[in-house]
Amino acid sequence: MRKPFAAGNWKMNTNSRTSVDLAKRLADEASDAAGHSVTVAVCPPFVYLQAVTKALNGSSISVGAQDLYFEPDGAFTGEISVSMLKDIGCTYCLCGHSERRHVIGETDELINKKVTAAIKGGLLPILCVGELLEERKAGKTNEVVTRHIEKGLAGLSLEKVEAVTIAYEPVWAIGTGLTATPQQAQEVHIFIRNLLGKMYDKKAADEMRILYGGSVKPSNTAELMAQPDVDGVLVGGASLKAEDFLGIIQASIR
Ligand code: PGA
Repeated sequence: MRKPFAAGNWKMNTNSRTSVDLAKRLADEASDAAGHSVTVAVCPPFVYLQAVTKALNGSSISVGAQDLYFEPDGAFTGEISVSMLKDIGCTYCLCGHSERRHVIGETDELINKKVTAAIKGGLLPILCVGELLEERKAGKTNEVVTRHIEKGLAGLSLEKVEAVTIAYEPVWAIGTGLTATPQQAQEVHIFIRNLLGKMYDKKAADEMRILYGGSVKPSNTAELMAQPDVDGVLVGGASLKAEDFLGIIQASIR
């Protein structure tokens, strides 16, 4: 049984006060659910990670980073290592989010190094994959998702891949208000699970969680979660409003 997973990606939003306020509200109101029925994580900006971790302390809500650098230490100005993230209490890390792929220009090879480094250092990577609108229109969704997954997971053993969560986030649905229909999400999720089954084995594929992301709201979470291969949600905009994210957490419980 795959436990539902609701993750909030705060992106480059919040400040020192609002990040802590949001975390405290979640800790107060979602801790019970987070402990039992659903895995809950928030991914604040790097500079607020420590304050958010402190504000969540004692709750069952985990903290994730939005990115990492794959080298362990050294002269990499501006970058943040896995051990630094572990040191301040991070559990998860997003890898290959579409904004990093398409705005910052990260390649599948770089993302693979990040996923590999995260697992080696004891962080749980959430590998984000998904097609652009023109790729969907050209019937290339499965091809793009296959490339993101095969390259993103390259070199990872069966044992290591168990640390990975996949997030299917069609780029055309991110921040646009255009959510994929539950059927569109399910089609890609089952495709991904079958692909993982071929790359690894059926048991591993059945155990891996595949989240959907892209304009998730309290009102569309339950229908997405009703799909057999949608195991959770990765939420951007709606995770910045306590009310909305709390609603999403509740609606993720099966
Ligand atoms: P959105 O973002 O919920 O604002 O569409 C999702 C994401 O980028 O993870």
